[in-house]
Formats: sequence, structure tokens, C-alpha cells
Amino acid sequence: MRATDIIEKKRDGDELTTEEIRWFVTGYTRDEIPDYQAAAWLMAVYLRGMSRRETLDLTTAMAESGDQLDLSPVIDYAVDKHSTGGVGDKVSLVVLPLVAAAGVPVAKMSGRGLGFSGGTLDKLESIAGYRVQLSEDEIMQQVRAHGIVLCGQTRQLAPADAKIYALRDVTGTVPSLPLIASSIMSKKLAAGANAIVLDVKVGMGAFMQRVEDARVLAQIMVDIGAGAGREMVALISDMNQPLGHAVGNALEVREAINMLRGDGPADLRDHCLAVGGHMLRLGRRDTGSRALEDAMAELEALMDSGEGFYKFREMVQSQGGNVAMVDDPGKLPRAGLMGEVPAAEGGYVTQINALLVAQAALELGAGRAQKTDPVDPAVGVVVHRKVGDQVAVGDIMFTIHANDEHSLGRARERLARAPVFRSREPEPMPMFYDTITASVGG
Ligand code: URA
Repeated sequence: MRATDIIEKKRDGDELTTEEIRWFVTGYTRDEIPDYQAAAWLMAVYLRGMSRRETLDLTTAMAESGDQLDLSPVIDYAVDKHSTGGVGDKVSLVVLPLVAAAGVPVAKMSGRGLGFSGGTLDKLESIAGYRVQLSEDEIMQQVRAHGIVLCGQTRQLAPADAKIYALRDVTGTVPSLPLIASSIMSKKLAAGANAIVLDVKVGMGAFMQRVEDARVLAQIMVDIGAGAGREMVALISDMNQPLGHAVGNALEVREAINMLRGDGPADLRDHCLAVGGHMLRLGRRDTGSRALEDAMAELEALMDSGEGFYKFREMVQSQGGNVAMVDDPGKLPRAGLMGEVPAAEGGYVTQINALLVAQAALELGAGRAQKTDPVDPAVGVVVHRKVGDQVAVGDIMFTIHANDEHSLGRARERLARAPVFRSREPEPMPMFYDTITASVGG
């Protein structure tokens, strides 16, 4: 086979065979195909798209490009979750301990934040000592002993995706639905899950701005998963305003800990129970008609009794983290400067622009513009008022946690533009727009 033939075939809008896709992915991963040819091929895929069969073949080739985690020695039937990235999204920190506390073991590999979207690993690292880099043996050992592990991706997992993603980043080929779907799903498939819950965010603080686009992306990922023999559920969830109140690493860990003690914002609670409910139902292979409601009620009880909190504490301790910070979240890193942003108008809050909040947090140092940037665990934004709240002029909308005056000033300026006020009460914002499911063979 020749790379030029495969590039030309896709350029002309023809469908590639399974063998051609595998050959190209393998060749690029092994440095046998140069960046310039892979870039041309990615642009052809971006412009011409891919059929479902091609997308599944691309995903499978990337998933099989490195090691694949086999969790079967420690988990009979592994259930995983993935969020496409949002603002204030600390759902994994709450849901995983709850699901594990319900007796369904979970092994999740998370990522770091990039751009405006935060990453679970950065959040966890605000707990002193917490080890995110575990070997495969350690992952197995954690699951066996504690029924939960939350760590970074082992280096050998889906190396083709890492290489292709880096090239997409610099060739204008990131926003392609088959490339996004195959990138996300290749990592999930390689991580050993039998069933996957996808939390596909849509809105101002998400990758996708329109519900129709999010639905198409979700459907492609669900089809890939089902085609690869996985049980799939995708939730299309709102990301127009931040989830919960806290945006920033230690601030989000604090909110997650409070939530696990039964004391957190209603939107975060409902979101976590829905995602967790689907995970529990899938993990138990219980598809009875009341299974989802029952699973959510069970998780809520574990939240209110503190059992989810104790599972989180056990996970932190076993991964080397300082549990004093879990017992007293006041001991988590704290910023040196605080600033408040008051409401410039009175009325009902009809919008809190999640992207502006995320950009403010990024400027404060909570996120990274480049992959190699360090993050400041202490800084971020607390959103006090959400869509639907009634406020008076001067009520505090945001508290900024900063470590320098310059970024504090810039965050203040951005956040002043984030809320929209109206005299009429808005319709409640939906939390979920749709649920897309697929069963193996169904
Ligand atoms: N997240 C991924 O892992 N890959 C993409 O292409 C986009 C978001």
C-alpha cells in the first residue's frame, strides 16, 4: 500500500477499506508515515467525513495501536464514564466513589485540562501527595483492594490517538465529528470498559454549541461503542452555565467533597445521580423498568449517609493523598487574594456565560493554554448565583480566588460580562436534552 493512494482516495470522497485505515494508522504510529502525509490525510477526512464503518475501523485501529487494559482479572464487567469537557465539571470526583460504594468497582483513567476545559487529574493533584501516575499492576491492585481507582492514562494506551491528536491540534483538523468520536472512543475501548456512559456537553462552555451537533457526536460514539461490543449510554447535557458553583481545581475538589457529604448544589447533585445511576444500572446489567430510578435513589442514600465520602477518602489515602485535606477541605491550597464581582443590574439571572467564567479561571492560572503549562491549584471562581435566581443590584455574583493582582483584575473584567439579567423570570434550563442508548447486538 502507498500513503499517497490512501490520501487521494479520501480526498476524492471514496470510502477507505478496513485494511487501508489500519495500515495508515499503524504506519503513522510507527513513524513510517511522515507528519506531512498524515496531515494531508486528516484534512481529507475533515473535508470528506467518514462513514460509520470507517469511523469504527479508525477507532479500533487506534485502540489497538498500543496496550489494552484487561480489567477482567479484577472486574467482571467494567463500567466507565467520559465527559466531553465542561466548566466546573467535577462529576467524576463525586460519581465514582458513589458507584464504588454501591458495590460496583470502577477503574477510570482521566485526563488533564487543556484550554478552557478542566481535567480531573489537575483537580485531584490539588490534594497533596495524590498519585495519578500508576502502573498497570498498581491499577489492578487498587481495584482489588478498594474497588476504585482514579488515575492518569498509562503511557502505552492508544498511542496513535496521542500522535494524531497532536497533529490535529496544529493542522486545523480538531473539529471533525469522526475524528473527535474516534479519538475519545479509542481511549475508552483501550481502557478496558465493557459499558460506557458518555456525558456529552453542549452550550457556551462546551466543545459543541448546538444540541443537534452534540446529538450527532453522541450517536457516532454510541454506534462505535455498540459496534465494538460495548453497552452504551450517552447523555446530552447542558453546559451553558457552569456546573455547581466552583470552577478551579482545589475549589472543585472542595465542592465535590461537600457534595459527597450530602451538602452541595442541586444541579450538581442531580447531574451526578443521573450519570451515576446509568453507571450503576449498566455495571449491574440491570435493565428493569425501574432500574434507573432505583439506582439513583440508592446513590442518593449513599451520598446522604456519607458512604460515598468514605469511599473517596479511602481512594485518596490509598493513592498517597493527604486525607487531612479531605477531612478538612479548608486545608486544600488557598489563594492569597480574593475579589468579589457584584451584580450591575437587578432582576432575574437568565444567563451565566460558562465560557467567560472558564476564561477567567484560565487567566487566573487554573487551566493551561499549552499542554506543558503548570496549573495553580488554589485559584478559580465561585459562582454564587445561577440562572433563574433573582438578584438586586450589588448582590455578589462571583468570588475570585487569585494569586496576583493583574489576573484578578482581568478576571473581574471578564466576569462582569458573564451574567445577563432580565425583569422576567426565565424558563428553567434543562439539565439534559436527550439520552441515546445502544445495547450490544441491539
Ligand atoms: N477529546 C478527545 O479526547 N479527543 C478529541 O478529539 C476531542 C476531545
